[in-house]
Amino acid sequence: MVRIRPPEPEAIAEAAELLRSGKLVAFPTETVYGLGADATNDVAVAALFRAKGRPAHNPLIVHVAAREAAEPLASFDARARHLAERFWPGPLTLVLRQRSDSPVSPRATAGLDTVAIRVPAHPVALALLRAVGRPVVAPSANRSGRVSPTCAEDVAAELGEAVALVLDAGPCPIGVESTVIDLSDPDRARILRPGGVTRSELEAILGPLAEAPTDEKAPRSPGRMRSHYAPRLPVRLDARTVAADEALLAFGDDVPKGALWTFNLSPSGDLAEAARNLYRALRLADRSGARAIAVVPIPTRGLGEAIRDRLARAAAPRPDETVGLEGA
Ligand code: TXA
Ligand code: MG
Repeated sequence: MVRIRPPEPEAIAEAAELLRSGKLVAFPTETVYGLGADATNDVAVAALFRAKGRPAHNPLIVHVAAREAAEPLASFDARARHLAERFWPGPLTLVLRQRSDSPVSPRATAGLDTVAIRVPAHPVALALLRAVGRPVVAPSANRSGRVSPTCAEDVAAELGEAVALVLDAGPCPIGVESTVIDLSDPDRARILRPGGVTRSELEAILGPLAEAPTDEKAPRSPGRMRSHYAPRLPVRLDARTVAADEALLAFGDDVPKGALWTFNLSPSGDLAEAARNLYRALRLADRSGARAIAVVPIPTRGLGEAIRDRLARAAAPRPDETVGLEGA
């Protein structure tokens, strides 16, 4: 059985000790639960890739407790400093040029000359990072390609024995992953993954930004597979009607009738509430007994961009019949 502990000080101290000794620990962030490993420990990072079944070419996000702890890892230009000041702690990941003397394992960055870094805005994550005193890599605590966990039970269901301890702080307040922005090109900033910080919040500081790439052949963000965040059932988007054997994810007060099972992501049409409920809803839909999942149209504004990105990947053709696992 997986050990799950509430985030009391002794549990956080134990989690920090486990991480420092090379073990894997799952912990809450404001976005989703992460599966942590000491970013400076090559063996621990290798174990993390194995536990997730994650392809080695998909780099990890390094988590630190404050910007001061990020400075030794990467070079911050004026844009990076500005964004860090405005959004850290928070759901924004910066892809920056890595410093040559960075202590982060090359395995964590998949051998790239860039590194993705964020400071999470969750008191438990921050307390843990401070106690560890080293950078911690933390991908979402799911098997590669599957739906990210937003509560401790979902972590346990995904990862089982591979994780030494799960810190349980209840459901994650944002519910979709951080926005990943690439600042490694000094002349051009690009959103690689929409997430908890919206495009308009970033554009208010940086000016207009290019679209996130969706091209699987030349992914700029190496791990951004077209099929990802996938429940077991097939997913159908922009549904305006629903079949009697389908599970329905609704949004707002215009709910198609006749589904086998219905979950309204936000009856009041609030995108933040919908983001918070999204992954849990996909997991519940999987268990509803339906043949497929239909999802009503979700608006593109604000957090809608991140929600639609995840749903599009959930609906994308799966790489093979072992549904959910990312080939490779
Ligand atoms: O909200 C989050 O960011 C969560 C929580 C746990 O912090 N973590 C998370 O990690 O979503 P993960 O590993 O599931 O997603 C990392 C994303 C991937 O799309 C990966 O390709 C991209 O960040 N990434 C990491 N390092 C990169 C780099 N050097 N260049 C481009 N993309 C990078
Ligand atoms: Mg993930």
